[in-house]
This record gives sequence, C-alpha cells and structure tokens, in this order.
Amino acid sequence: SLVPVSTLLREARAGGYAVGAFNCNNMEIVQAIAAAAEAERAPVIMQASQGAIKYAGIEYITAMVGVAASMVSVPVALHLDHGTSFEQVMQCIRSGFSSVMIDGSKHALEENIALTKQVVAAARPVGVSVEAELGKIGGTEDDIHVSEADAFFTDPEEARVFVEETGVDALAVAIGTAHGRYKGEPKLDFARLEKIHSLVNIPIVLHGSSGVPEEAIREAIRLGVCKVNIDTNIREAFVDRCRKVLADYPDEIDPRKILGPAREAAVELIREKISIFGSSGKA
Ligand code: G3H
Ligand code: 13P
Ligand code: ZN
Ligand code: NA
Repeated sequence: SLVPVSTLLREARAGGYAVGAFNCNNMEIVQAIAAAAEAERAPVIMQASQGAIKYAGIEYITAMVGVAASMVSVPVALHLDHGTSFEQVMQCIRSGFSSVMIDGSKHALEENIALTKQVVAAARPVGVSVEAELGKIGGTEDDIHVSEADAFFTDPEEARVFVEETGVDALAVAIGTAHGRYKGEPKLDFARLEKIHSLVNIPIVLHGSSGVPEEAIREAIRLGVCKVNIDTNIREAFVDRCRKVLADYPDEIDPRKILGPAREAAVELIREKISIFGSSGKA
C-alpha cells in the first residue's frame, strides 16, 4: 500500500540521502518508476502534475500507481505535484493519494501561509503529508538572472516563519533551479540553501532537478535536500527512444514495439537518478 512522503523523507533526512520523486503520466512511466525502484531496492515517490491529472485523470493515476505499489516490495508514495487549490488537494486525498503539494508560491506570503495551513489541517488527520513552496521556482523560459535572485529565491528568514506557522512536512525552495530544460548550466545558491537548512527543521525539496549536474545534486542533498523532483529527464529518455525506434523501423505500427523500448530507456534513466540520490538499497 502507499506510504506518505513524510515517512520516506524522515528516513532520508536521518540517512543523509534523498528520495527520487518522479513524474508519471501514463502506464509505461508508472511501470518504469516501479521497476527502477525495485531494481535499486529504493523507496520511491510517484507524482502527478496538473498536466498528468488532465491527461490521464485522477482515477487512472491512482489506480495505476496503486497496482504498481502492490507489485513491488519497496515503499511507494503517490504525491500531488504543484497542487493549486484546496479543492484539488481534497479530491486527490479522497482518491487515495498519500501525499500532496499545495503550491501557494504565486500568492503573497500571508495568503500562502493561510492556504497551506488550511491544507495541513485537512490532510494531517487522515495521515496525508503536505509539501509547500516558498519562493518562485521558474520555468527555464523565465530566465531568472542573479540580480533578480533576491526577488524570486526563497528568503531563509521567511522560510523559518512559514514552516513554524504552517506546520508543513516538507518545503520546496527556489535556489536557482527551474522546471524544464536549461539553456546553460544552472547555478545553485548553496549559501542560501545552507541558511534555510539551518533555520528550518523539515526536509527540503528540490524542484526542476532535470539538467542539474550530478555534483550539484549531491551537494544539495548534503545541505538538506531530501526529495529530488525529476520530470524532464524522463520525458527526454522516453521520447528519444521512441524517435530512435521510429527512425530505425519507419514501418513499425505496433505501439508496444515503440513504447516498450521507451519504457526500458526510462528505467535506465530513473535507476541512474536513484543511485545519484543515494537511495539505492535503502528500502
Ligand atoms: O512541475 C511541473 C512538471 O514538470 C510537469 O508539468 O505535467 O503539467 O507539464 P506538466
Ligand atoms: P524537471 O522537469 O526540471 O525535472 O522538474 C520537475 C519538477 O520539479 C516537478 O515538480
Ligand atoms: Zn516542480
Ligand atoms: Na529542470
């Protein structure tokens, strides 16, 4: 059965590693995440974004991840990624998600606190853990410059107050990563992360982690990151392999002959990530 993210992150925090949180949109990717976690003997988080819910539907996501979890011997969590409203969070909890993110980062601080508090009050009694976001994690297209960092990045003192007031289980921070592909190499603000870590005693979540160099990921984990979100790299591995099969066999019309190899490519990519995060063998 599905476990809350908070349980996995508590152990990760104590053990000095991070749990991979991989976005899933279809059966093949759910299977790939499950197979990779099982092969690595690693706890794992499957998460569904707004786009995933729109594409597959909450019912399919919950059912697929439920089946996947029942077929592996490692702990699996199902997490709502970037939840936008209290109503959506409740819908996911009712559907069987074991963890939710409420992303109030676009709101002013007080509003973000109020919304997050409301979600924690509803989720905690039913054993569902809550991740919140403070600061603005851009899309790569947003192209945040260093001069703007203070306006967008998470303020450590605000983070302390936010965590104290909301009682959230995990905090997503903006320290220089962005969703999607990077144009150049991302530069992470480790000093800021260290400061946040010293003021906040809950697991920290790194979003936009696809394309972040391995060494930077390791350093972030050393400085308190316990959950690392990966989406884009899975899409790349999956679709690159689809393209390759279609280029090699232009007459192929059996979806299984295309999606099967793509699923294999996703397994390899996810196994590599799990190993970098240090969660191999922790299940
Ligand atoms: O956090 C965003 C995820 O990377 C994916 O978003 O599935 O809505 O395109 P999407
Ligand atoms: P990437 O697509 O950059 O890996 O970001 C994923 C993410 O943060 C999902 O919440
Ligand atoms: Zn994200
Ligand atoms: Na990214």
